[in-house]
Amino acid sequence: MKEEYGSMGHPHTPTPLKHMHYFEYKNNILYSEEVPIEKIVEAVGTPVYIYSRRTLIRHYRAFDSAFQEVPHIVCFAMKANSNLAVLKVLADEGSGADIVSGGELYRCLKVGIPASKIVFSGVGKTRKEIEEALQAGILSFNVESPQELAFIDRIAGELNRKAPISPRINPDVDPKTHPYISTGLRENKFGISMSVALDMLKSIKDYPNIQVVGVSSHIGSQITKIQPFLDALEKLLSFVEEVRNMGLDIKYMDIGGGLGIRYRDESPPHPRELGEVLVPRMKKAPYTFIFEPGRVIVGNAGILVTRVLYDKVNEGKHFKIVDVAMNDLVRPSLYGSYHEIIPVVKRERPLIKADVVGPICESGDFMAKNRELPDVQPGELLALMSAGAYGFVMSSNYNSRPRVPEVLVDGDSFYIVRRRERYEDLIAGEEIPEFRKV
Ligand code: LLP
Repeated sequence: MKEEYGSMGHPHTPTPLKHMHYFEYKNNILYSEEVPIEKIVEAVGTPVYIYSRRTLIRHYRAFDSAFQEVPHIVCFAMKANSNLAVLKVLADEGSGADIVSGGELYRCLKVGIPASKIVFSGVGKTRKEIEEALQAGILSFNVESPQELAFIDRIAGELNRKAPISPRINPDVDPKTHPYISTGLRENKFGISMSVALDMLKSIKDYPNIQVVGVSSHIGSQITKIQPFLDALEKLLSFVEEVRNMGLDIKYMDIGGGLGIRYRDESPPHPRELGEVLVPRMKKAPYTFIFEPGRVIVGNAGILVTRVLYDKVNEGKHFKIVDVAMNDLVRPSLYGSYHEIIPVVKRERPLIKADVVGPICESGDFMAKNRELPDVQPGELLALMSAGAYGFVMSSNYNSRPRVPEVLVDGDSFYIVRRRERYEDLIAGEEIPEFRKV
């Protein structure tokens, strides 16, 4: 297994660690930390998401220490994985959170992430969400339009509060990633162009309940190059200069998330490498830097385990039908993304080329197309790797499939941190009205 997170600690004295994550074979049997995957499956069945606490901690620390030489706050982008136990692991490491909804705020407060480390992003914050965030006393609203600014000002006035805000600047930088997850281009719906933001800030006196505390940006996700981050940082730094010249006291500079991970053969920079390029530039600026990493913290800290149900060959085309489907992990269907698929028990067997597909009634329901993999048989277990980010959180009940459990491994123990949904959960909240006779 490639050492992606090969070192931690001080950037110049790397301490090599053996693994990028703690999912590995011991005597041809896949383990998470010290727990055989089969043991978890015996307890909870399949499909199941499995996270490794040790990996989460390791990734968090790798990221955090990469920026240790500048004042900073890591606000984990919890949209990537918002399970309470995962959040608690990160909260205990000192993480803050980047939230995009009232529901995410609720989860943060449940696990004790201090409001003073929470930033609120997103183009469509509602009145209820703004009120809740003001009441909680969050660090900053990353404001995405002049109308939103006016709305927050009004609500803050009603609640007799001062709202801390950071305009989210759209730096018009191409992150060179999948179009669905690129956010920092002019054509994307996110952020405010620099000229509109400047105009907005020039009239900030008209908004008595607003306090500008920072500026923010986020250019995209699964970014595998350093240059787009550097370009965005430079643009942000020169923008802030102009803002400070207007007499505004900017404390925070939020450069968003987006650092990519290895799914297949990508070679994204290690957080330390990103730090080595950005930190010298950051050191010259008098700000506290905020980061919103999501995927890089949790992506490789989770897998999704499935069982092969059937094997089918149609006119020479081979299908492995598994019990996991697009409702459980939508990334392959939605983005055509690649998740490595490996057997939970390694045996000698021929390689075949097959589509790995789920039980949902859509042709788009696949985990892999034309994938070369060992000829695993019905009843055997497969692991979909790198499923810790945007996995469970994007799952749904489509086809009335109960959502799958989540398990957190910690050394030689494991915890069911979300139980498998039951049929009753599927219909909870639904009601059949007393229809009038027709
Ligand atoms: N901050 C903001 C404002 C964001 O919109 C996002 C992600 C992040 C931070 C975290 O980005 P990360 O470090 O995880 O790349 N569902 C897609 C990814 C969508 C990303 C949306 N925004 C996927 O499965 O690839």
